Formats: sequence, C-alpha cells, structure tokens
Amino acid sequence: MQRDDDDPWMHPHENLITGEVLEKSIRFLAGCAILAPSGHNTQPWLFASGPNWLDVIADRTRALAVVDPDDRELTISCGAAVGTFETAARRLSLQTSVARCPDPGFPDHLAQITVEDGPPPDELEVTMFDAIARRRTDRSAYFLEELPDGLKCDCRKIADPLGVNVEFFSDGSGLKTIADLVAEGDRIQFEDPDFRHELASWVHSSRRGSRDGMSGASFGLPDILAPAARFVIRTFDLGENIAAADAKKILAGSPTLALLSSTSDTVEDWLDTGRALARMLLLLTARGFTASYLNQPIEIATLRSELRQAAGATTQPQILLRIGRSERPPPPTMRRALSDVMITT
Ligand SMILES: Cc1cc2nc3c(=O)[nH]c(=O)nc-3n(C[C@H](O)[C@H](O)[C@H](O)COP(=O)(O)O)c2cc1C
Repeated sequence: MQRDDDDPWMHPHENLITGEVLEKSIRFLAGCAILAPSGHNTQPWLFASGPNWLDVIADRTRALAVVDPDDRELTISCGAAVGTFETAARRLSLQTSVARCPDPGFPDHLAQITVEDGPPPDELEVTMFDAIARRRTDRSAYFLEELPDGLKCDCRKIADPLGVNVEFFSDGSGLKTIADLVAEGDRIQFEDPDFRHELASWVHSSRRGSRDGMSGASFGLPDILAPAARFVIRTFDLGENIAAADAKKILAGSPTLALLSSTSDTVEDWLDTGRALARMLLLLTARGFTASYLNQPIEIATLRSELRQAAGATTQPQILLRIGRSERPPPPTMRRALSDVMITT
C-alpha cells in the first residue's frame, strides 16, 4: 500500500490494498492526507505515525505572516488534512477518532488520529474517497447553475456534527453585500505591498520544480505568464486572465457562495472547520461540483464583522467558498513527497 512519492496524485485506488497491517494503512492514508487543500498550497503539516495513530503537527515555518498572522488558515489547512485522512480511512473499513490539541505543552501538535477496525464503507464513502485525487481548487468562472437543495442539505449534515455552520447564498441582498465585501477586501489586500510580496513568493513557475505553492498551470496559464496568476488567485479567472475583482463580476461567475463559520475562534474550531471543509469539498467533487475561495473579507478583521452581519450569522466566519460547475478541471497542484512530511524517530 505504498504511495508513490514521485506522483502524490496517482489515483489512491492504484495503490489500495485493503487488509494490510495497520501501520502500512496509516502511511497510505497519510499519502491521501497530503492531497488536502492548503492556503497558497503551503502544505503546513508534518506527520508522525505510530502502530495505530497519526500525529498531525503544524509546520509553522510555512506560516503566512501577512495574510494569516494568527495561523488560523494554517490550522484550517491542517484540519483539511485530518478530514481527508478520515475520509480515506473509511474506504479501508477503518474507523477514526480525533483528539484535538492532545498535548497542551506542545501547541504545534494539533491532532492525533487513532485508527481501528470499522464496518465496510457505504456507497457515499466510496465515492468521497474516489474524489480525493480529483478534487481541485477551480478558479475558472462557473456555469450559472444553482446548487441543488439536497446537496446543500448533505453539506450541512457533514459540517453540523463538527460544530461548523454552513450558510448558502444564491440570490438576494445578502449575496450582493458579500460580493461587495470580497471586492473591498481584494482592493485593501492588493494595496498592501507586504501582502503582494507574500503572495508572489508562493506563485512560481512550474519549471522551478517546486513541490509547493502555485504555478501558472494551476490557472491554465503558460509558465511565462505565471506572474499574471497572482491576480486571479484572490478571486477567479473570467478568461483572458482577467480577474473578477469587482462585485458585479464576482456575482456573475459565482452561482452559489457558501460561508463556513464556527461558534468561536479557537484552535479546535479552526481544526474542525478544516475537517468539515475537506469533507464538503469531497462531497461536492463526488457530485460533479467544484469550488474556490473568496476569503478576503474574513482575512481583514474589520470586514470580518461586516461579513458576519451581512450573512446574518451569530458565529465566526472562517471560510468563504464559491461553488458551481466548471467546463474542465485545472491540473493538480504539486505536493511535497510523503517522505518530506513524515517525521521518523
Ligand atoms: C484555509 C485555506 C485558505 C485558502 N485561501 C485561498 C484563497 O484565498 N484564494 C484562493 O484562490 N485559494 C485559496 N485556497 C486554495 C489553495 O490555494 C489551494 O488549496 C492550493 O493551491 C492547492 O491546490 P488544490 O486545492 O487544487 O489542491 C485556500 C485553501 C485553504 C485550505
């Protein structure tokens, strides 16, 4: 059940052997976890495994000091790795339990996932596993097709038990106000040279052979245009590499927005937001939908409370997604090799 370090996206099925010893299964599942989304594709996680557990440790050397000074999105990203691991474990008929922040003396130790035998996966669990290698952050403009009510309901069923609230916006004044806040956040961030510098340092040409960050290819651009990608990362690409940075364009290419929020703003809330995010994205992928992020108004403190008001939420906004169907998925982004993120003792 060894995953191929050279091609982390190789379809997990190709490596899947059920009934292996638990320790080998955990390594396979860690290979699935590295396919999780992360802010700027920083992949800010390290793993250590034991006979029946995986420790998830924050790699704060990969923090984004300007856009994410409290490591909130870094922790959500690690939570997404946990959620991907949990989803993959069900495919191997394994059950997981997650201890969050298990070691108060070592705050970087974000989670310990313990694994034991469980019932065989149901059909949905199998399709969600299959979605792990197909999930992408897709920054193209989407068809104007609303998310079906049944799918919205299923997303909530995933998030609710983790204490994460999901609010959908497809029309009405709330949607317009949220789009205005995204555009305002985008303007504020791009006026900040530190923000631009930090973003640019994670967008590089794929020719550099880098295994993290984002390349022009992630945006369907030739390498030479990689720098142009910086301007579509924050919103999305309307074609001809034009970023949808104003509210009208954001509305025109985003059939549904989804706001994930949590009751408070603790490390545990951030982790659980990431777990819910990963599973929701896998469900959407399994059903033929895709998503990208419009987090600007959450990343700027003053806009975050305005967003909360606009969304009529009493909880803390954590992630803002646009969701829809797109013409064709972008190519996968790179990942660090499993051997680079596994700590061996
Ligand atoms: C917590 C978090 C925040 C993110 N913020 C943004 C964002 O503001 N803009 C964006 O375009 N993508 C954002 N992303 C998506 C990442 O850039 C993307 O996951 C990464 O480049 C890897 O690509 P993939 O999701 O296609 O595997 C975010 C992802 C996570 C988990």
